Amino acid sequence: MLTREDAELIMRVGPGTPMGELIRRTWVPACLSEELAGPDCDPIRVRLLGEDLVAFRDTAGQIGVMGEHCPHRNASLFYGRNENGGLRCLYHGWKYDVSGTILETPCEPADSRMRFHLRHTAYPVVERGDVIWIYMGPRDKQPPFPNSTTPATTSSPSRARSSTSTATCSTPGTS
Ligand code: FES
Repeated sequence: MLTREDAELIMRVGPGTPMGELIRRTWVPACLSEELAGPDCDPIRVRLLGEDLVAFRDTAGQIGVMGEHCPHRNASLFYGRNENGGLRCLYHGWKYDVSGTILETPCEPADSRMRFHLRHTAYPVVERGDVIWIYMGPRDKQPPFPNSTTPATTSSPSRARSSTSTATCSTPGTS
């Protein structure tokens, strides 16, 4: 019979846990292709390895899987608008592409460079066999996707993991 410590060791899969880090060295299934029916469809929630995520298919058909909570003020991107090449947060309108790059920050002054210094957590994606797979580990340890006879569509954020710290909006009255 397992000790409590051994059970904890093999069952805990959140970030920073031994088993969680082991699983994060492989591609894991996040959802089915049919759950993201077409370009600009509604985003879906995905909870995987203790992380709350959202998945969406952008206007060009690329798939993004990223942290559910907006790095600006933590609103849920599940309620975001998937439009014109990105997912827009409903709270203050920040917009993200599938790689987690911030495309627009409409509540900031026009000359704000904040968006160039932040990036939302987004994971590399492969769509294959009607399944959407993601890699949640460190980029320098990312293995190639296993061989398959089915052609893959990939979406590779330039950085898989990044800060999700809450940013400060400089426009008064927008909290
Ligand atoms: S909380 Fe998302 S843009 Fe402000």
